Amino acid sequence: MAGSNPYIKTPEFEKATRPYEITIIYEGEPKTFVVDPKDIPYERSGLPGSILDICEGHDIPLEHTCGGVLACSTCHVIVREGEDSCNEATDDELDQLEEAPGNTSKSRLGCQCVPNGSSRIVVEIPRWNRNAVKETPHE
Ligand code: FES
Repeated sequence: MAGSNPYIKTPEFEKATRPYEITIIYEGEPKTFVVDPKDIPYERSGLPGSILDICEGHDIPLEHTCGGVLACSTCHVIVREGEDSCNEATDDELDQLEEAPGNTSKSRLGCQCVPNGSSRIVVEIPRWNRNAVKETPHE
């Protein structure tokens, strides 16, 4: 699902201009590949070139209940390396992140975090963040 959130200011971000290496750790397994800016956006969920966009383009499951419009926290990721190459989190993103289980100082929302490609980056999808909707019991 693509779209935008009328209640937030669109975050500023710098698009990657050259290919860069990314490692996504999913289920504890690192998957490393090169992101080529000419392929961005991949699937149009989240900001173009965001971690969510990249995951969708490489068949790596990353929850995104709100469709990538900064209205949930299910796309929570932890940037283990290369955080300086990413856009700064906005106050809206930090507010949403407070709802994410296991929030850390390196946490970002995958739909809002856009690497600019100036360095390699390592991103972990927390185990508790997977299938959040399916695994949450109904009350
Ligand atoms: S998918 Fe909902 S905030 Fe990122």
